[in-house]
Amino acid sequence: MIANKNILLCVSGGIAVYKAVALVSKLTQAGAHVKVMMTESATRFVTPLSFQVMSKNDVYIDTFDEKDSGAIAHIELADWANLVIVAPATANMLGKLANGIADDMVTTTLLATTAKVWVAPAMNVHMYNHPAVKRNIERLAKDGYEFIEPSEGILACGYVGKGRLEEPGKIVSLVEQFFKPENLPLKGKKVVVSAGPTRERIDPVRYLTNFSSGKMGYAMAAAAQKLGADTILVSGPVEITPPAGVKLISVESAEDMLKAILKEYDHADIVVKAAAVADYRPEISLSQKMKKQFDHTAIELVRTTDILLTLGELKQHQLLIGFAAETNDVLEYAKGKLIKKNADYIIANDVSKSDRGFGADSNTVTLVGKEGFQQSYESMPKDNLAIELFTTILKREGMWQ
Ligand code: CTP
Repeated sequence: MIANKNILLCVSGGIAVYKAVALVSKLTQAGAHVKVMMTESATRFVTPLSFQVMSKNDVYIDTFDEKDSGAIAHIELADWANLVIVAPATANMLGKLANGIADDMVTTTLLATTAKVWVAPAMNVHMYNHPAVKRNIERLAKDGYEFIEPSEGILACGYVGKGRLEEPGKIVSLVEQFFKPENLPLKGKKVVVSAGPTRERIDPVRYLTNFSSGKMGYAMAAAAQKLGADTILVSGPVEITPPAGVKLISVESAEDMLKAILKEYDHADIVVKAAAVADYRPEISLSQKMKKQFDHTAIELVRTTDILLTLGELKQHQLLIGFAAETNDVLEYAKGKLIKKNADYIIANDVSKSDRGFGADSNTVTLVGKEGFQQSYESMPKDNLAIELFTTILKREGMWQ
């Protein structure tokens, strides 16, 4: 459940910092990507090196110590995290967060993140029961923070009572719970993906088609499935195996594809139109094989229905994601298609290069959305890209915290 999840651990300065090192160790062993941020006072208890070694990542302490000139660390990390854990959270940290104070790396990042934030307080029992601390906890709970309550026992200060940081093993099992499938962003959602080329028959042995391999569409379906969706893949003829758990509807022509998608449309939450639908079909599809007769001949073509445009016209609650396969002026055409087809997003794809687009295993795309939204993705395997695209879209749509 935790594998490949991005967990940001914010460590504030209390004696329980040593337990946070064990927490990082357990999370990374479970396959999570962990990044650690410390307050200055936390560094007095345990050195950043311990966290660096355990997480195999840089440790962030100073807001102004930008390690990468191309990025603003507290924003990058805030966006990167699938889950943020503040452990241990001192009384001072709770006070700052409850009042929206952002005076160091941890507090600044916590204001910038839209990810779920868990707070694990640890302090002396009297501090924990102080009305100011209680007030801050109540206020933070109202703001949407979730708490991992401290456990009872012998405290470092010698008192016995509530105030011990919850055991790392227990925190890891809570994290596992959190990432269980029912907590996936597309759980309970229906996603319809169309993929591959269409075939437009000339006669029983010939057809018009294009070079689409279906790989990007299949990757989008696999990503939707991984993110918890009830996924339906409407696919033209391709050579690849459908992702496990996805319902496959095989179609041949643009007309078949239109019908299959319309059947699912009312109940769909998201439709991804990755298919390379033929724009024209032969006006007449012969029932018998066409015999050669003349030196020159022509096939009369008529336009197929534009499926995405039709879906855009019928759109109610659905989120509509299209692709734009282009060889030139890629972004300009993509933005035009976004408006013309009433789509919510268009993934612009330069199919003129052999390392991307049709048939390639990797892809380089730019996502365009309404209100001038635009985001480019460096070349990466189509499977990873599909997850990245859904992540961006779902976060932007408020469907994934
Ligand atoms: N599309 C569709 N039905 C069609 C043609 C295209 O649903 N008959 C969808 C594609 O699945 C894609 C988007 O429209 O999501 C853009 O497809 P593309 O082939 O890039 O462009 P076209 O709309 O066909 O326009 P043009 O051929 O002028 O580039």
